[in-house]
Amino acid sequence: MAGHSEILDNVRSGMIPAHIYNDNELFELEKKRLFSRAWVFVAHESEIPQDGDYVVRRVLDDSFIISRDSNGDVRALFNMCLHRGMQVCRAEIGNASNFRCPYHGWSYRNDGRLTGLPFHREAYGGEAGFRKNSQTLVPAPSLGTYNGLIFISMDPDAAPLEDFLGDFRFYLDFYTKQSRHGLEVRGPQRWRIKANWKIGAENFAGDMYHTPQTHTSVVEIGLFREPTAQKRKDGATYWAHSGGGTTYKLPPGTFEERMRYVGYTDDMITRIKGVWTTEQQRLVGEDGFMISAASCFPNLSFVHNWPRVEDGDPDGDQNDGTVLPFTSIRLWQPVSHNETEVYSWFVVDSAASAWFKKKSYKAYLMCFGSTGMFEQDDVENWVSLTNTAAGSMARRLLLNSRMGLLSDDRPVVEPLPLESFHGPGHAQVGYNESNQRELLKLWADYLELPEPSAAPTAPGTARPA
Ligand code: FES
Ligand SMILES: [Fe+2]
Repeated sequence: MAGHSEILDNVRSGMIPAHIYNDNELFELEKKRLFSRAWVFVAHESEIPQDGDYVVRRVLDDSFIISRDSNGDVRALFNMCLHRGMQVCRAEIGNASNFRCPYHGWSYRNDGRLTGLPFHREAYGGEAGFRKNSQTLVPAPSLGTYNGLIFISMDPDAAPLEDFLGDFRFYLDFYTKQSRHGLEVRGPQRWRIKANWKIGAENFAGDMYHTPQTHTSVVEIGLFREPTAQKRKDGATYWAHSGGGTTYKLPPGTFEERMRYVGYTDDMITRIKGVWTTEQQRLVGEDGFMISAASCFPNLSFVHNWPRVEDGDPDGDQNDGTVLPFTSIRLWQPVSHNETEVYSWFVVDSAASAWFKKKSYKAYLMCFGSTGMFEQDDVENWVSLTNTAAGSMARRLLLNSRMGLLSDDRPVVEPLPLESFHGPGHAQVGYNESNQRELLKLWADYLELPEPSAAPTAPGTARPA
């Protein structure tokens, strides 16, 4: 294999060594240097609304219990018993005041505190032998939330989540803040695909170019009126700090008219206006851009589309009530260098009407999730790409990911000025691979960082580890 620095230099120039999409050695490096540091999404707070609720999630090989403890605080607890290392919680979701280890019966409160240790006195001589008091399941090194999205980082010295997300928060709000009442989520649906995790993240970050080709059948049956080549080309891509995405250009109109065009109801529009900033509203109302797919580095993606859930006039530019928007959060959880577990959640504003929630859920299921038509189209490409990237010839090919750049690195299309795109970061209209390059530049930067060090936890003993 070419040296790491040569691979990373090529990536930074927009020429992607094809084998990075199926390379075990690089995956080991990703584990050590990237997933050991970056903030990784694990759950949404609305999945654990009540005290005692929990879900079990992974970051690569590490299992965590994401629980709401009896004080209402969110915890991320390494799901490994302090005794002999058994997985403490085997269920995927539930409500519990305590978790009892199946192996020898140690038990822990839902905040992680060790409370039950059978035969503590007889077997250990009580506290003198094993200090039970103040022991807890090992917490995730860093925990942060934004709009109810729960992230953890394996780095105890991770910069605050807010700094990590940076200006991408402006765009995150479109997907995750549509009223003061927060989100309701359904799912996740989970399934495995034989594809490298980076491909999905790149695709959602900025691949407007694939939509008319890959999703031809979706356009043909009239499920979605937007993805024709012409309409996709009029959209803009944006990138801000840790993430970026794609947009569609909407027909002329006010903020309200454009929100109605994609299917938001008037009560929702009123609530949205109450929580989106002036600039966020201007992006839609003045600039005419509606956010669509996006990715937040490293492996979290979003999609917001507005398919036709009922038969209607497929060519009409005005919404006749048959179009409904949906939002999905998705996670590309790496299993190996050539396999990914996909997590796909449907999310909707909790204050939306029952009618809207039902229709929006239907819209989501038609498009994404394990049976979604967009999903099926996409994944076939990604599996095939991953397979082809495994061989020796792929090591001799640098994929050209420079769309939108001339050979001297000047842009094909000038970036949009702030008065035409009222969001932070940089944005440009038309087909380009700017966001895929931004995502992989971050990837390259992380792969050059040293592995973070952390002192081991040594429960029960006063002696240093
Ligand atoms: S491994 Fe959990 S109680 Fe022994
Ligand atoms: Fe797609």
